[in-house]
Amino acid sequence: MAKIVRANTNIALIKYWGKADEALKIPTNSSLSMTLDNLYTETSVDYQSELSEDVFYLDGIQQTGKSLERVQKFMDYVRKEYNVKEYALITSYNHVPSAAGLASSASAFAALAKASTLHLNLDDEALSRLARVGSGSASRSVYEGLVEWEKGKDHETSFAKPIPNSDWPELRMVICFVNEEKKKFSSGFAMQETSQKSAYFDAWVKQSHEDIVTAKKAIEEKNLNKLGTVVQENALRMHASLMAVNKWYFEPKTIEIMNIVETLQAEIPVYFTMDAGPNVKILTDEAHVDQLLNHLKEYKTMVCKTGKGLTVYDEL
Ligand code: DP6
Repeated sequence: MAKIVRANTNIALIKYWGKADEALKIPTNSSLSMTLDNLYTETSVDYQSELSEDVFYLDGIQQTGKSLERVQKFMDYVRKEYNVKEYALITSYNHVPSAAGLASSASAFAALAKASTLHLNLDDEALSRLARVGSGSASRSVYEGLVEWEKGKDHETSFAKPIPNSDWPELRMVICFVNEEKKKFSSGFAMQETSQKSAYFDAWVKQSHEDIVTAKKAIEEKNLNKLGTVVQENALRMHASLMAVNKWYFEPKTIEIMNIVETLQAEIPVYFTMDAGPNVKILTDEAHVDQLLNHLKEYKTMVCKTGKGLTVYDEL
């Protein structure tokens, strides 16, 4: 029986938005994330000599079309890079609230990178590079806690690593569900449109270099106000760069929650961030979660702590 790999998803505090190399997913800027504790993907890869192509089951359903093609493309890369001869049966389960619009390629490709190379015992750096080829944000889900993906300049130099001395057990990410449908358009498409056409793209890249420095300093100081401020600003800058090409992910409820958080900021440390979808994620700490949740009673929420990196276990 193939072993199972669990990868937690991660939420970017400083966003990856734009590629210098589309095929290898080398980003135009470094990013920084928090791995979450209770949203994850579990995957097993069973190489079988009798298969004539990769077969992929997601949540018990055999995949076809784009979903299958993306996984097959990744597996072709693994076969070429590591001289694997066989096709595989890939079984994956996304443990996220049903259809929450959060099913993430980050946890999916981090789990697949490890599960497809278990026999090779790759180190974390190599796994991060490999996961990146599947989905950029997956490079960060290899690790626990707070993680930086240094953009690098090529395949060798672009990988994520844990931020030293960043252990912060009180940190919380409150996910606020706005829309449980599939997102309007993929992050890959949106970031390509932005990097090719947005008048604000160069400014985004330049500012994000500074945002990383500010965020790392705030983490070193365990200064939630400083971290949250740059997290929120960075998210708005990312979305502004996208809006400049006439595209957005925000919905009325997204804005409602942003307003609630902004009002609360006068009293407590709460800061919002949004990704390629309308859901809002709110960065805070343990001491202020209850007060925050009191103001979000009409929304479905989920409170996350920092989570572990990749874990491997035997099927029960
Ligand atoms: C907004 O990692 O999904 O979540 O590399 O094309 O697969 P691809 O993109 P993906 O993009 C994530 C974008 C983001 C920001 C982030 O996670 O850093």
